[in-house]
Amino acid sequence: MNRKPTQGADRQSGNTSGISCFMDLVAREAEEYAADHTTPMSALLEEVERFTLMKTPYPSMLTGRVEGRFLQTITRLSGARHIVDIGTFTGYSALAMAEVLPDDAEILTIEHNAEHAKIAQNFFDRSPGGFKITLCLGEALEILKTLPDGKTDLVFIDADKRNYSAYYGESMRILRTGGLILADNALWYGRIFDPKDDDSRAMADFNELVKADDRAEKLFLTIRDGIYLIRKRGSDEMNRS
Ligand SMILES: C[S@@+](CC[C@H](N)C(=O)[O-])C[C@H]1O[C@@H](n2cnc3c(N)ncnc32)[C@H](O)[C@@H]1O
Repeated sequence: MNRKPTQGADRQSGNTSGISCFMDLVAREAEEYAADHTTPMSALLEEVERFTLMKTPYPSMLTGRVEGRFLQTITRLSGARHIVDIGTFTGYSALAMAEVLPDDAEILTIEHNAEHAKIAQNFFDRSPGGFKITLCLGEALEILKTLPDGKTDLVFIDADKRNYSAYYGESMRILRTGGLILADNALWYGRIFDPKDDDSRAMADFNELVKADDRAEKLFLTIRDGIYLIRKRGSDEMNRS
């Protein structure tokens, strides 16, 4: 399982503003201020967050309010209609994006843990936007390999860290020119600065892979645990630079 380290006490507090445990990198005060000045999410997403904090062993895997609102903003601004969400967990990121997508758009969300998939599907079934989401149970890399070239507008990568570089390769293949990748946990709790374990080395390697890739225009954001925002460039753009 892709387990993120936890340091906070949100599970006990039932905090529903998406603050968890990035205080080693960003002051908790700043995280709380950011959440407080971000439009709250829908009642259902707040419920998903409360459920995840109280009932699952790894509540910090949840995306939460600030990043959820960021995903919604990027979804709207980019006009994405075909989205792939790698790592469903309790469904927060897929539901957040589905809420702002037009009715003829779609999200494929991928999860290999049957228990997580069941929880997420229950929430999708209760959401007015849930019909736009197809949950695929299985290994993300295998499922990505079955998707066609160049037809996806947006990929959110948020699953096992050791496969991030492989997910990136497949995402660049399935994205149309101008399509976007959002890779969560790009800072990996600051462990990318001096990686000492396999997940940390995988995240550091992933960041270097992206940095060196001429096909990609990159923006490394220090939101929450870091989001690497990557845009697939066209061949004409590559020739210009
Ligand atoms: C960090 S959580 C995803 C959080 C979710 N995006 C959200 O917004 O709350 C990562 C999820 O990816 C799943 N996962 C890990 N490795 C996977 C793999 N190889 N294939 C599919 N799912 C995987 C885990 O079971 C977990 O539910």
